[in-house]
Amino acid sequence: MSVPDTGTAVGTLKFRNPLLLASGILGESAASMVRVYNSGAAGVVTKSIGSESRPGYRNPTVFEFGSGMLNAMGLPNPGIVDFGEVVRKTRASGVPTIASIFGSSPAEFAALAASMQEYGADAVELNLSCPHVEGFGAEIGSTPAMVGEVVKTVRDSVSLPIWAKMTPNVSDVAALAGAAEDAGADAIVAINTVKGMAISAKLRMPVLSHSVGGMSGRAVKYVGLRSVYEISGRCGLPVVGVGGISCGEDVAEYLMAGASAVQVGTAVSEGGPGVFGRIAGELSSFMSSEGFSSIREMVGIARR
Ligand code: SIN
Repeated sequence: MSVPDTGTAVGTLKFRNPLLLASGILGESAASMVRVYNSGAAGVVTKSIGSESRPGYRNPTVFEFGSGMLNAMGLPNPGIVDFGEVVRKTRASGVPTIASIFGSSPAEFAALAASMQEYGADAVELNLSCPHVEGFGAEIGSTPAMVGEVVKTVRDSVSLPIWAKMTPNVSDVAALAGAAEDAGADAIVAINTVKGMAISAKLRMPVLSHSVGGMSGRAVKYVGLRSVYEISGRCGLPVVGVGGISCGEDVAEYLMAGASAVQVGTAVSEGGPGVFGRIAGELSSFMSSEGFSSIREMVGIARR
């Protein structure tokens, strides 16, 4: 049997395979993003960038448990001005670059998106979903009205593709995605982390300095799959699946739920950038053994 075609597209953006680096891991420097691309990812999503630099929360910001991770970093970033060089260099190395941004208002998102467009990003990912930073993320992105307002304001300001990243910490994630679609988004990314916390019984206190954080990794895969399935049943936009992907069969499950591509985060922080080459090989083997010759044949097959 011939080698399956693992190329895919998210709207107008074409990728050599469906594996993208998720925001938050190795997305701070051009060197690390180029390394991720050279290790087999088809593209990268940068660290979430805001208007001003932020130091983030004090340690501890990460708690690892057997099947995943809890983090509350506090959106640390160098600010939009200093990040321009990172985006330019990453793009200049030929890496498809999706720039993640966070703002506290529709106008702030629009200004950040305009800067990322000027820097040459291939798309912007709107962080409407960080579950624990006051005034940002899910505090903006938990109602369809606000999601619609942010996306529409960004749409009116830039021509590059807009990806809207959804929070799973709501009762109807598909309604949020529908609002993003109606307002002019080009793709939906699902999911950001699941709000959670850890307590140290011995210390009698929360483990993370911020107490509450976001859960990622294998523990959240089934929340991600359900979210992608519901979103792709309600809206016609391409969906990018995120949450607990660590092997080729996980990718196949997301594609079958309706995703056209996926993002990998926690597995990279556990195993390094080399996980991309391994997962790509496993996906290709799965497709060969199951008789799929293209990604397109798998997308949404579990819905039919
Ligand atoms: C963080 O910076 O704490 C996480 C960002 C996010 O969840 O979007």
